[in-house]
Amino acid sequence: MYSQALSYLRSVTDKTPEVGIVLGSGLGSLADRLSDPVFVDYGDIPGFARSTAPGHKGRLVFGTLSGKTVVCMQGRFHYYEGYSMQDIVFPIRVLKLLGIKALIITNAAGGVNTSFSVGDLMLITDHINFLGINPLIGPNAEEFGPRFCDMGKTYTPALRELAKKVASVCGLTLKEGVYIACTGPSYETPAEIRAFRTLGADAVGMSTVPEAITASHCSLPVLAISLITNMAAGVLDQTLSGEEVIEIGNKKAGELQALVKEVVHEL
Ligand code: HPA
Repeated sequence: MYSQALSYLRSVTDKTPEVGIVLGSGLGSLADRLSDPVFVDYGDIPGFARSTAPGHKGRLVFGTLSGKTVVCMQGRFHYYEGYSMQDIVFPIRVLKLLGIKALIITNAAGGVNTSFSVGDLMLITDHINFLGINPLIGPNAEEFGPRFCDMGKTYTPALRELAKKVASVCGLTLKEGVYIACTGPSYETPAEIRAFRTLGADAVGMSTVPEAITASHCSLPVLAISLITNMAAGVLDQTLSGEEVIEIGNKKAGELQALVKEVVHEL
């Protein structure tokens, strides 16, 4: 199936992206800033599932950003939508086969660390997989990587340093921390958030971890950044809603987009 997806994409565009960018909830508009864009709906790509999450468009966008050829996933697949782990990470392997040399992952997340505020950007330094499942379960795809894959430097130190340097040059504050992934779709309870804080998590979300594991498996350097769209359950006395997440995503997307754009420039 990977080769069918690849041949289809090669038949649509001869662009050979150097960087892959996964755009999270409310953050998809970065793809609208690419020059010479080529849009490919997920539904047209052999092997791709369809994206149903609100705030996610469901297409690949090839184009030029900061003078480099990139491919954006405008919309991703989440476990809570009912997809299998294989469906969720299929696009990451296709991007690897397209020749990307680095993967930039963005997401909307809830702030677990009480020193964070809504609208903060957080560089992911590491993750806790609380999904209860791993995308590498099943026969190992030897052509991508080893059966037992190291996760010690999944969030590539050199890319993290670069992001921090770029953020400081752009005058953006970049927090750092550990991302914990839960399946959703219900938000967490206040007790869960307290437990996650004890475990060492700084932000919580429903994505990213399967993609980062799969990228690590195929030796793809990863840079991942969360936009804190809300404080996690129980931190503030407020009700959590998906609309709020998308609204803050849209409002604050500019800063994250500026950061990604400059990072791509410096890669
Ligand atoms: N929890 C889980 N996922 C999220 C949150 C949250 O508080 N905010 C944005 N995505």
